[in-house]
Amino acid sequence: MTTKKKPKVYITRKLPDAVETRMRELFDAELNIDDTPRTRAELVEAVQSADVLVPTVTDRIDAALIEEAGPQMKLIASFSNGTDHIDVEAAARRGITVTNTPNVLTEDTADMTMALILAVPRRLAEGARVLTDKPGEWAGWSPTWMLGRRIHGKRIGIVGMGRIGTAVARRAKAFGLSIHYHNRKRVSLTTEDELEATYWDSLDQMLARVDIVSVNCPSTPATFHLISARRLALLQPTSYIVNTARGDVIDETALIKILREGKIAGAGLDVFENEPAVNPKLVKLANEGKVVLLPHMSSATLESRIDMGDKVIINIRAFIDGHRPPNRVLPFR
Ligand code: DGY
Repeated sequence: MTTKKKPKVYITRKLPDAVETRMRELFDAELNIDDTPRTRAELVEAVQSADVLVPTVTDRIDAALIEEAGPQMKLIASFSNGTDHIDVEAAARRGITVTNTPNVLTEDTADMTMALILAVPRRLAEGARVLTDKPGEWAGWSPTWMLGRRIHGKRIGIVGMGRIGTAVARRAKAFGLSIHYHNRKRVSLTTEDELEATYWDSLDQMLARVDIVSVNCPSTPATFHLISARRLALLQPTSYIVNTARGDVIDETALIKILREGKIAGAGLDVFENEPAVNPKLVKLANEGKVVLLPHMSSATLESRIDMGDKVIINIRAFIDGHRPPNRVLPFR
């Protein structure tokens, strides 16, 4: 009987124990038990020695790194839905396959988007701080104190009606919001009917008419600063914007400016242009109650991380066994 050599799989961050254990059973897996982000030099060493790299959104897998890859490196099985941290084009040029983990983050991300849609107009973070920042100083209920804005009956404009955008729309509809959306392609009439959704082929037109904007499109060269200074200026002064997609879809500097000038009512952000750095001006706005900030945690549930790990394992297994991995990512066209 011949025994097959296990593929060498390099995992850049700590994953849930169950996922790591299974990976060790199946592969010659190098784990990152203490979760220290890998340095550039460590990543170079990894692509020169491993057969499979398992990066996350915190690793920059750019063309220069991919150029360093040895001939044994054949698969980048990303532990992520988004692949904007990987130069997929450069990988394709080197004959390296890229996979991701779609579908399994959809519901958790949509839940957190809905949480931000509620948190900003209803002043959730501000209210919670009243009880914790100065314990015992709350003077009690008053009819005109901590008034937010109602979301029921308002219009939401979803930018990017893919899986996550659609899941946000389902939740928003249940909260009594009327659904508007902009997408490269119109969704099916069945979905539009189910959501009672209004399609806008002009993003500008939609932005000017809705009360809450939810950004749910991926980060691609085409969506970089899609919500530009010019488009932000189209928003109504009473409107809110929520972003659980990627920071660079919004021109963050322009967003900060209009928030400071009071030209929109508020923002809920889970993602930032220069993560993990967060612009101190945004922190100041959060302290003033104008924005709610979260540290890129929309998909952070144990269940989603385990499901993501399962997807990574399936993609690696399929690839190693000579099949086309189910979640192959093609270069952006
Ligand atoms: C992803 O996988 O793209 C998410 O942003 C991570 O939470």
